Amino acid sequence: MSFLVEPGFLTCLEFTQMHKWRHGRRWWMQFMPKGASYSVSCGTLAAHHIKMVPMAYTPHLEPLKTSEILEVVEHYRQASLNAIRAGFDGVEIHGAHGYLIDQFLKNGINDRVDEYGGSIENRCRFMMQVIQAVVSAVGADRVAFRMSPAIDHLDATDSDPLNLGLSVIERINKLQLQVGSNLTYLHVTQPRYTASGAKQSHAELASKKKRSQMMRTWRRAYQGTFMCSGGFTRELGIQAVTEGDADLVAYGRHFISNPDLVLRLKLNAPLNKYIRKTFYTQDPVVGYIDYPVLSKADGGQAPLSRL
Ligand SMILES: Cc1cc2nc3c(=O)[nH]c(=O)nc-3n(C[C@H](O)[C@H](O)[C@H](O)COP(=O)(O)O)c2cc1C
Repeated sequence: MSFLVEPGFLTCLEFTQMHKWRHGRRWWMQFMPKGASYSVSCGTLAAHHIKMVPMAYTPHLEPLKTSEILEVVEHYRQASLNAIRAGFDGVEIHGAHGYLIDQFLKNGINDRVDEYGGSIENRCRFMMQVIQAVVSAVGADRVAFRMSPAIDHLDATDSDPLNLGLSVIERINKLQLQVGSNLTYLHVTQPRYTASGAKQSHAELASKKKRSQMMRTWRRAYQGTFMCSGGFTRELGIQAVTEGDADLVAYGRHFISNPDLVLRLKLNAPLNKYIRKTFYTQDPVVGYIDYPVLSKADGGQAPLSRL
């Protein structure tokens, strides 16, 4: 997000490049806070967060002062305007995976004593300020929100994920009624990172069932389009949609290793295996755009050019 609120990003050259990426698809910009660099909590968090940031810059890891929070909300608002100006169809606000909004939401990490910590109302405050600001800037139908109440990533844990998720949903539902329009979608990641086909114990299967029920409860509570992600295979994705557990399914690792994933899913063609060690690398090519597309020999109707 930092580069979207600062000058320099929206130059003619970058516009041209971005429109090449677009390639006739709908595209959404996902927002994270400035370099994922703020922490709302105490010093012990810092070490874990620094490990997650392989870049050259040194992250600034200090709890946000209450007086700084509205400035961060303003960054989200400005970034959403810039994203739309740059040609994105919409923006997904990242409220998941231990990043800033998630740190506010969860009681295992948010130890604030101001109006942003403690009660559920307080912990949801920052999230709602961001969503309201972005919705008022670009319209609800260009905004999505991603959350992961049941994922304990980057020390962001909550003692009651089910109710946290419901509290977020209740507030978004209310906002949608107020503005007379739904968000484009609500995206929920479930903690099902087990690689497809891996063996699972009875305890794992039982907790998997519990997690599915939780997702179902959120899905029923949300008044709008519900996207899920996290550990989906082709079969599980089809099952989720046909059984009414989701309207949309997002794929992460399979998408990275299959530039033509949609075609492969349509054809039920084999998928390239992802290579974990090239995830999150700095190389602009390896692990990002060097996976092969489906060829005629693999069952594709026509060889596709490099996307
Ligand atoms: C290399 C890599 C990069 C990712 N980058 C992002 C990201 O920028 N934003 C995000 O919300 N999730 C990101 N994710 C998480 C995925 O969106 C997804 O939640 C996760 O991979 C689980 O889904 P899957 O089982 O389909 O892979 C990333 C995952 C991987 C493996």
